Amino acid sequence: MASHIKASQFVSIFVIILALNLNFSSLLGQRQRDNFVYNGFIGSNLQLDGLAEIKPDGLLQLTNLTIQQTAHAYHPFVINFKNSSSFSTTFMFAIVSERANRNGHGFAFTISPSHIEGGSDAEYLGILNVTNNGSSSNHIFAVEVDTARSLEFGDRDNNHVGIDVNSLNSVETATAAYFNEKVGRNDSLHLSSGDTIQVWIDYDGVKKRIEVALAPIGVTRPRIPLLSTQLDLSLVFVDRTYVGFSASTGLLQSSQYILGWSFNIDGKAQKLDVTRLPPVPRRKEPKERHKQTIGLSVGMVMVVLITLLGGLYIVRRKSYDEIREDWEKEYGPQRFSYKDLYKATEGFKDKALLGSGGFGKVYRGTLLKSKVEVAIKRVSHESTQGMKEFIAEIASLGKLRHRNMVPLQGYCRRSGELLLVYDYMPNGSLDKYLFTNERLKLSWTQRYKILQGVASALVYLHEEWEQVVLHRDVKASNVVLDADFNGRLGDFGLARLYQHGEIPQTTRVVGTLGYLAPELTRTGKATTMTDVFAFGAFMLEVACGRRPVEQQELPEKMILVDWVHDCWRKGSILETSDPSLGDDYVMEHMELVLKLGLLCSHPSPDARPSMRHVLHCLDGEAFLSEQALEGFPTDAASATTLVIGDGSSSVAASNASSPPQSCSVHTALSSGR
Ligand SMILES: Nc1ncnc2c1ncn2[C@@H]1O[C@H](COP(=O)(O)OP(=O)(O)OP(=O)(O)O)[C@@H](O)[C@H]1O
Ligand SMILES: *[C@@H]1O[C@H](CO)[C@@H](O)[C@H](O)[C@H]1NC(C)=O
Ligand SMILES: *[C@@H]1O[C@H](CO)[C@@H](O)[C@H](O)[C@H]1NC(C)=O
Ligand SMILES: *[C@@H]1O[C@H](CO)[C@@H](O)[C@H](O)[C@H]1NC(C)=O
Ligand SMILES: *[C@@H]1O[C@H](CO)[C@@H](O)[C@H](O)[C@H]1NC(C)=O
Ligand SMILES: *[C@@H]1O[C@H](CO)[C@@H](O)[C@H](O)[C@H]1NC(C)=O
Repeated sequence: MASHIKASQFVSIFVIILALNLNFSSLLGQRQRDNFVYNGFIGSNLQLDGLAEIKPDGLLQLTNLTIQQTAHAYHPFVINFKNSSSFSTTFMFAIVSERANRNGHGFAFTISPSHIEGGSDAEYLGILNVTNNGSSSNHIFAVEVDTARSLEFGDRDNNHVGIDVNSLNSVETATAAYFNEKVGRNDSLHLSSGDTIQVWIDYDGVKKRIEVALAPIGVTRPRIPLLSTQLDLSLVFVDRTYVGFSASTGLLQSSQYILGWSFNIDGKAQKLDVTRLPPVPRRKEPKERHKQTIGLSVGMVMVVLITLLGGLYIVRRKSYDEIREDWEKEYGPQRFSYKDLYKATEGFKDKALLGSGGFGKVYRGTLLKSKVEVAIKRVSHESTQGMKEFIAEIASLGKLRHRNMVPLQGYCRRSGELLLVYDYMPNGSLDKYLFTNERLKLSWTQRYKILQGVASALVYLHEEWEQVVLHRDVKASNVVLDADFNGRLGDFGLARLYQHGEIPQTTRVVGTLGYLAPELTRTGKATTMTDVFAFGAFMLEVACGRRPVEQQELPEKMILVDWVHDCWRKGSILETSDPSLGDDYVMEHMELVLKLGLLCSHPSPDARPSMRHVLHCLDGEAFLSEQALEGFPTDAASATTLVIGDGSSSVAASNASSPPQSCSVHTALSSGR
């Protein structure tokens, strides 16, 4: 009997828990539906119609340049409004008109009982039409960002913001401006300038007050809103509503973009993360057309000729489009024009292609004016995030000169890409010599000289330049050979550019499989010691003629550092030397390189030597203490395997039996770039 009661109690408790659980999760779901933030719209489930479209980079494009159309975009879930509900929303937009001073129509943030249907184009903004304008059965609330002046709706100008209720005749309207806290006055805003502008709309359901504020991107919400008025929206809203945007084009058009949007019912809208917003395309600036002279027939011929030439000019100009911003002025000397680079490579012909890497394609070219041979790397880069810091860094690095670094001559920026101009290195990159059979192999003396050279370049970057510079991507394919087969380090800092635009929480580690120090994958923080780690992998690569991780190999040989370490313990470290060298190498040097390589690959950063010490050892000015190697974790607990654990050296020992399957983890880490 007793046990029977227990069982039923148990069941009812279980049911209660289940019910609570369900309730909780549905509440949670509702929360996410009523309180959301889109920093860019990648992967969002917005419901779109008309011209609206989400671009691959996450930009929501409401309208493009198609005439007399409408567009809508809605958050996919119904929002429940109650009588005293408040709401708060903020979004960032940019309007790029087809031509300067020829705006199309605007768009509006809308709250409506259903997806809007039957809204007209042009001045109706896709919200209403001639029959339902003004009808209280619409239950539509809107904040219009209007860039055309419609006299029929009493618009004040072609650059205003208005609060609309059931009608396009605004309840309250003002010319776009924002209260500039710094100077204590209202500064005007040009809505269709193409610049990103943020809008805040806050409604207090208890006080029945609505406020609309605007500011350029990067400026916090002004204390004094542009529009602020008493309004009882409980009479407008129905319980179940949709929130979104409505837009239109007329005979004039603009491209209208929403970069990010957040909304919250009964609470402040979450802040948008400016670093994660997609970039806005610029207007293609056509050159001013030549004034046409009307009159004599000779004049007419001239006109035709001029127009033709002008047209040609425009076409040519267009393909040379590039981006220059004010802050770049100081880097003037290092700034190349796209036109010059285009000509240098004869239009980036395939014939001029030297190779392509993880960051982009590399072309060979000759600068027309100076006749200097260059290698031009085209890095595609959508985001402007981090670009400024990166340019600052490469500009300062442009001053770095070291005989073992590839001189960086300068750069050029275009929309969505960055071009880096380096000195041309006639012998190509080192990996080709190490890993392909058809080419001539490098002798041991050449290899040793390359290692010394690259080590001295790293010492220079780490210690001898005015500030510590990290390379972040040391590996055989980033070492190119000059005419004398000196190794030269290239590609510095690029990895960093890629780290910038990233979402901070998921700091993607940038670098290359097999060269990533375990603490780097853990903390995401590059240091001189992470460069040393990569240099260790590089030394082994050069000595053994193998890549740090070979997918096709037998498991025991798959991870180079493990295999070398294994052989070292068995006293047969020389067995790992590149077979193609035969016996043609200096034994002491080979041993030194292999052991140094191991030491630099130590999973614990503190156990690794500094680059200076490595260089001293290579130059025979210091000795490698074999003792240091004793501390190297045994067996499979190599640095590489450690990455899947938490990577601390104490875990190293206990991790000893981890199979080298960690490779797949590695690939996932580095394949993103
Ligand atoms: N300064 C240069 N002079 C001559 N050839 C170069 C120069 N820089 C790069 N190259 C060639 O272009 C190819 C591609 O270079 P890139 O640095 O993009 O590739 P990678 O190093 O293999 O990849 P990653 O982008 O991952 O570093 C190289 O293999 C090399 O042959
Ligand atoms: C505008 O967008 C629509 C719908 O996405 C597309 O069909 C049309 O080709 C686009 N027009 C222009 C000029 O880009
Ligand atoms: C909300 O307020 C309106 C007007 O005051 C009233 O007609 C309506 O019944 C109220 N609805 C609810 C759900 O309280
Ligand atoms: C105006 O919009 C309403 C509501 O969607 C629709 O029923 C009606 O057909 C539209 N009228 C015109 C003239 O388009
Ligand atoms: C639209 O509706 C408002 C409010 O009813 C009215 O004042 C205005 O005249 C209407 N405008 C047009 C063009 O129908
Ligand atoms: C700025 O604009 C706001 C809102 O339109 C207005 O209330 C305020 O008086 C203006 N301030 C100044 C200094 O012009």
